[in-house]
Amino acid sequence: MAGKVPLFSIEASNRGIDLTGAFNRVANSNWFILGNEVTNFEREFAEYIGVDNCVSLANGTDSLELALRALDVTPEHSVALVANAGFYGSTAVNAIGAHPLYADVDASSLNMSPAALRDLLSREKPKAIVVTHLYGQLAAIEEIVAIAAQAGVPVVEDCAQAHGAMRGGRIAGSFGAIGCFSFYPTKNLGALGDGGAAVCSDQALAQKLKMLRQYGWNTKYSVALAGGRNSRMDELQAAILREKLPHLNDWNSQRRAVARRYNAAFNDLPVKAASSVDADYVAHLYVIRVRNRDSFRAHLGEQQIATEVHYPIPDHLQAVYTGRSVSPRQHLPVTEQSAAEIVTLPCFPGMTEAQVDRVIESVCAYFKRECAQ
Ligand SMILES: Cc1ncc(COP(=O)(O)O)c(C=O)c1O
Repeated sequence: MAGKVPLFSIEASNRGIDLTGAFNRVANSNWFILGNEVTNFEREFAEYIGVDNCVSLANGTDSLELALRALDVTPEHSVALVANAGFYGSTAVNAIGAHPLYADVDASSLNMSPAALRDLLSREKPKAIVVTHLYGQLAAIEEIVAIAAQAGVPVVEDCAQAHGAMRGGRIAGSFGAIGCFSFYPTKNLGALGDGGAAVCSDQALAQKLKMLRQYGWNTKYSVALAGGRNSRMDELQAAILREKLPHLNDWNSQRRAVARRYNAAFNDLPVKAASSVDADYVAHLYVIRVRNRDSFRAHLGEQQIATEVHYPIPDHLQAVYTGRSVSPRQHLPVTEQSAAEIVTLPCFPGMTEAQVDRVIESVCAYFKRECAQ
């Protein structure tokens, strides 16, 4: 049998990138925290997104938490979000001690349903809304921002899977009050370790984010804002991200090309693809819905094709909430149903035609066998 097909290959994705140049630049500068690399990366990333400010941070989860803190979310408040996005938004809300209010997702995109949000806002007044662009697919963000504006609630975009996703000339992270990013190594723009950023055009919010990432300081050793911590991105990660940012659009195109081939090949099969293959989808994860997921995954596993489930347990059903006095439990039919069906197939820049062929052949063979039974 031909070799394994991994879900993602860091080696294939980073091929051709001059990582040692970035290393040497930082090592020779003898400056490792909040220096030129961070300043330049922040400027370059803000320009790429089309906003005025980028505040680099230690990771994506911090970016969500600090964004909510910058919007003055406290334990007295609630935050609206989806329950199918890996508990990252929930981690941020819970870290503050605020109450999560989960909205169901749209049955075809698996992103936040504008109708569900409208319904939630008719009953509740959250302090903020977190919208995740899941799998790299832009949510119905224009409609959601309009609904939120009517209710006077700011929107935080979770763009951790959607670097570069674009609609109507605007890029993920530029629609809401604050856009949050992770640069975890497997992301569409990934560092060589943890990293994150929050982007915005509001100067006052950017200033608060800068204070929150460094102990709440307004000036050195003077703590003026509660909720701060050390959440600085280091120079090395910023230098690596600067090397990689110019390649992001090309890598996104490569990812989308894989997704296009899958979509065309699976057109007549009983699978539902969660995403479009236009510029509003950067194919961070290629996810389909299948009825007998376990046997489907077992079949691909026998062919040494990796699969994963993003994510198997909806946030509101996670064990951590069991027995909590303020329970966020509520019934989210689309979220719950889709969690039992979703499966992620290999999709990454540098994936070879032969690897894509193998995945397609294996998926088609599975359904041929299913239909014959
Ligand atoms: C949608 C989403 N939000 C937030 C995060 C959190 O990012 P990090 O792992 O950098 O904290 C991730 C990443 O893993 C993610 O996929």
